[in-house]
Parts: sequence; structure tokens; C-alpha cells
Amino acid sequence: MRILITGGTGLIGRKLCRLLHEKGHQITVLSRRPESVPEKCGAAVKAFASLDEWQPDTVFDVIINLAGEPIADKAWSEKRRQALLDSRVALTEKLVDKIARARVKPAVFLSGSAIGYYGNRYDEALDESSNAGQGFAADLCIAWEQAALQAQGMRVCLLRTGLVLSRDGGILAKMLLPLGMGVRFGSGMQWMSWIHIDDYTQLILRLIADEQTNGPVNMTAPNPVNNRDFTRTLVDVQHGLAAFSAPSALLNLMLGERAGLLLEGQRVLPNKVLATGYSFRYPDLSSALGNLLSA
Ligand SMILES: NC(=O)c1ccc[n+]([C@@H]2O[C@H](COP(=O)([O-])OP(=O)(O)OC[C@H]3O[C@@H](n4cnc5c(N)ncnc54)[C@H](OP(=O)(O)O)[C@@H]3O)[C@@H](O)[C@H]2O)c1
Repeated sequence: MRILITGGTGLIGRKLCRLLHEKGHQITVLSRRPESVPEKCGAAVKAFASLDEWQPDTVFDVIINLAGEPIADKAWSEKRRQALLDSRVALTEKLVDKIARARVKPAVFLSGSAIGYYGNRYDEALDESSNAGQGFAADLCIAWEQAALQAQGMRVCLLRTGLVLSRDGGILAKMLLPLGMGVRFGSGMQWMSWIHIDDYTQLILRLIADEQTNGPVNMTAPNPVNNRDFTRTLVDVQHGLAAFSAPSALLNLMLGERAGLLLEGQRVLPNKVLATGYSFRYPDLSSALGNLLSA
């Protein structure tokens, strides 16, 4: 299949490009640094520097939309909030416009979102039918999903992505301090709905193939844990690691509103992917961390 990926040079995208290439697909990645695409995504991957390179007679069977400025990296000033929105919502609107102009429509559009859609929900079990939450991260996801849902004439899946566990960056790198400590955030009671990156990329293959699945899809493992148990498992798996607790007041002082990304959580269940019959390679946290932290 011919597949266009935005954000293909990112943490998820790089791994996904390798897998899709192995499966024999032809990949094009949209990137602000197109010259970096062969090295990051594989020599056979083509790069678009702009969506203007997508001509009406160019055919893509699948569009995967993962682009977005990193949400946790900088303080949420008004300018930063706009950049977070534009890099997701405005780009998705452009993509939908390109899809509308294409002479042959893609069969499926997989567009990014996050479990931040649900806001801070304490112990409530959340599935794809649960309503949206409140706060900037939730509003961002709502707007991102609404933009994607404007695509007409194809299957649309909204990837409500959990905390992606990978050796190469993301939340795990933030929780493993260089001094050999695992960090617990605040009370430790907030839920963490995580997913091993290999399950994430395999699930993308499943969503491309499974013609019955559409709308919101929780991209999380079936066994979320609270932050205290996450840190305990991390310490158990990584022998020699010490647990360190970062108090809420300190995180609020250091990070402002962004502290919510660490101190608040959601207990998310991946009901739609389980309904496809997908069997997780890493359904529980100790197997996922054992795989990622070994060797
Ligand atoms: N990783 C997670 O745990 C997680 C959790 C929930 C949701 N998500 C969402 O899933 C998506 C992929 O995650 P990821 O971890 O792979 O992200 P990532 O590593 O931060 O990569 C995102 C990609 O988006 C592109 N991008 C960044 N700023 C942009 C801008 N201003 N305009 C256009 N493109 C821009 C970049 O590509 P170029 O530099 O090549 O242009 C980058 O490679 C993101 O949207 C993220 O918010 C991720």
C-alpha cells in the first residue's frame, strides 16, 4: 500500500516506518526537515517538505497523522498553546483539504489524539464511549479529533494514544533519572495508561486491515496502573534503581499547568482494539519494562 505519514520522524513514526517498510508498503513522510527522513525512517522512505507536493492524482491508500509539537517540553504560554494547536489542528485541516482534492480517496485515515482527551478522571474506568474531560490538553485533543472527522468518504480512526513506552525517549526517559532513580509523581495515585511501542505499531497494522473499526480508538495496554505501582515495577525490573518522590508542590512550581500531565491521570481501557481480537505482546507493565530495560 502507499502510505503517507505526518510526524513520521518522531518517536512513534520512526519505529512505524521501519515496520511498514518490512511489510512491503511504500512510505512517504511529511517533514519540516525532509533531508533527515532517510536516516530517521529508512533509505526507501520518500519525503515531502510540504503538503503542496501532494498532487490531486497522487494516490495514497492510507494516511497516518502523527505530527505535533511536543506537549511537555516548554511552558504553556499563549504563544506555545497556539503552536501546539497549529501543529496539530491546522495541519490536520490542511490534510483533510488535500484528501478532499485527491482524485482517488485513501481507504483509511488514522489521525492522532491522546488519552488527555478524557482529562483528569481519578479511578473512573474509561472506554471510547466516555465523554471528554476538561483543561488545555483535553481541548487540544477535542479540536484535533474534530478536524480529522471532517474527512469524507473513508474510514477515520482517532488514535487516543496513551503513554508510549520506548527505549528511545518519551515518558520512560523522564521517569529514569540519570542518577539511577525512578520518579514517583505527587501522591502516586494517578493512573497511567501506557502501551509498549511494539504493540502500538502492531495496532496500526491492525487498524489499517480491520475494516470494521472506526471513530475513537484507545491505544493503550489492557492493564493500566497507578503511578505508585508504575514506579514500584520500574524499581523491581531495573535492579539497583531507587524510588524518588517528586512532591506535587514542587512539580506545580517547576512546571505550572503542565504539572497536570504528571500529577493527573486516566484509567483507560482499549475496548475497541480488544474487540478486533488483537492479542497484546506486552499486556502487563512488568513484561513491557522487562523487554525495554533488558540488555
Ligand atoms: N509518545 C507518546 O507517549 C504520546 C502520547 C500521547 C499522544 N502522542 C501524540 O502522538 C503523536 C506522535 O508522538 P511522538 O511521541 O512520535 O511525537 P514526537 O516524537 O514529538 O514527533 C512528532 C513529530 O511531529 C513533527 N512536528 C513537530 N512539530 C511540528 C510542527 N510545528 N509542524 C509540523 N510538524 C511538526 C515532527 O516532525 P518533523 O520534525 O520531521 O517535521 C516530529 O517528528 C504526537 O502528536 C503526540 O502528541 C504521543
